[in-house]
Amino acid sequence: MNSNLTYMHGVKSLKDIDVSGKRVLIRVDFNVPVDSHGNITDDRRIRSALPTIDYCIDHNACSITLVSHFGSPKGKYDEKYSLKKVSKRLERLLQKKVEFISDFESSKEEIASCSLERVFLLENIRFYEGEKQNDPELSKKLASICDIYVNDAFGTAHRKHASTYGIAECVPVKVAGFLMMKEIEAFSKALESPTRPIALVIGGAKISSKITLLKAVLQKVDKLIIGGAMSNTFLKALGYEMQGSLYEENFVQTALEVMDEARQNHVKIYLPVDVVITDSIDNPLNVKVVPAQDIAEGYQAVDIGPASVKLFSEAIALSNTIIWNGPMGIYEIDKFSKGTFKIANAIADCYAYTIVGGGDTADAVDKASESENFSFISTGGGASLELLEGKILPGFINLDRKER
Ligand code: 3PG
Repeated sequence: MNSNLTYMHGVKSLKDIDVSGKRVLIRVDFNVPVDSHGNITDDRRIRSALPTIDYCIDHNACSITLVSHFGSPKGKYDEKYSLKKVSKRLERLLQKKVEFISDFESSKEEIASCSLERVFLLENIRFYEGEKQNDPELSKKLASICDIYVNDAFGTAHRKHASTYGIAECVPVKVAGFLMMKEIEAFSKALESPTRPIALVIGGAKISSKITLLKAVLQKVDKLIIGGAMSNTFLKALGYEMQGSLYEENFVQTALEVMDEARQNHVKIYLPVDVVITDSIDNPLNVKVVPAQDIAEGYQAVDIGPASVKLFSEAIALSNTIIWNGPMGIYEIDKFSKGTFKIANAIADCYAYTIVGGGDTADAVDKASESENFSFISTGGGASLELLEGKILPGFINLDRKER
C-alpha cells in the first residue's frame, strides 16, 4: 500500500464523531471557475461539499460555518474575489438559508454564541493576510468560533494555510469530511491495488511543474502517455525540430532521463507521432497535421494529430486503470481541441477504472460530454498531483486519527 494513502486513510472522518449540538467549522473549497462577468461556470466543487454540509444539518449541529478561499487575492478585500456569488448558488443547492459574513472579525461573537441551527459562509479567507502565511493568530480566531473542525477542502489540501492546516492544531476535535475521504478512496483504488495494466495520461504545458510526478509514477504505472506542450520537450529530446512550439529547453535533459528511467522500469512511454500545427494561435487560418518530426518553420504544435489519437487510444483501450491529468492541446480553441476530446472519448469508452484530475482536464471531459462516463472526477488539481507524487497532503496531517 502507498504510505501516503495509508496515512491519509487513517484519519477520522465525520462519521466517527457526534456533531449534535456542536458548532462545526467546515473548510470547503469553493474556488470555482467563473466567466468574465463573474458567473459560475462549473459548480462541481460546491455540489461536492453538500454531503458533508447536509450531514451536519441532519445530525443537528448547532451552527455550521463554511470557510473557503476564492482565487488569489493579495491578502486584502477585492470585490472580484468575493464569495458572495457562491453564497447564492450554495443557498439554492442546499435549499436552506446561508448567512453571508462579509466581516468575520466583527461577527466572531455572534457566530461563536450561536445556539440555533444556522449556516454561515465567511467571505474569502484569503482576504486575510494570515491565511496563506498559516498565521497562528488567524488559526486561533477561526478555532474560537467552533467546537469541531472538518476539513473537506480536497482541492486545497496541498496548502499549509491557517484554515487548512493551522486551525486543526487549535481545535479539540478535527476530522475529514466526506469529499476528502471519497477522493482518498478513489486514488487508493487506482494506486494501491490497481487492476493492471495501469496508464497515466499526462498533458498540459510544462514538464517543470510535473517533473516530481513523472519520476514518482515510473515506479507505479505500466504506461505513460504524454501529450500537450509537455510532449514537445520530449520530442525535442529525441532530436526533433520543434520550431515555434512551446517547450522547455532547460528540461530537455530531464526528458531524456525520464525516458531512460522508464526503460529501466519497463514502463512504456507513448509520445505523439503527428501533431496539429499553426502559424498563429490567435488567428488560426493555417492549420495542418504533420508528422511530429516535420514541423515547418514559423509553425508550432498546438494539439496531437489523428495518428497520435489512434496510437494513444489503442494503448488506453488495453489498460485496466487509467489516470488522466492535463489536456492534449489548446482545447479551449475549437481547431485545437480534437485531440483532447478524442482522448476523453477513448478513456470514457474503456472498460477500466478511470480517474480525471485537474480543473482543465475535468472541464475538457465535461465539454466532451463524457463526465458521466468516468469512474471518478477529482475536485483537486494541484492536490491530486501531489497525491500521485506520493506526498501526504498537509490538510490531513493535523486531523484526529482512528484508533488502531
Ligand atoms: C485549486 O483550484 O487548485 C485550489 O482551489 C487551490 O487553489 P490555489 O492554487 O490558489 O491554492
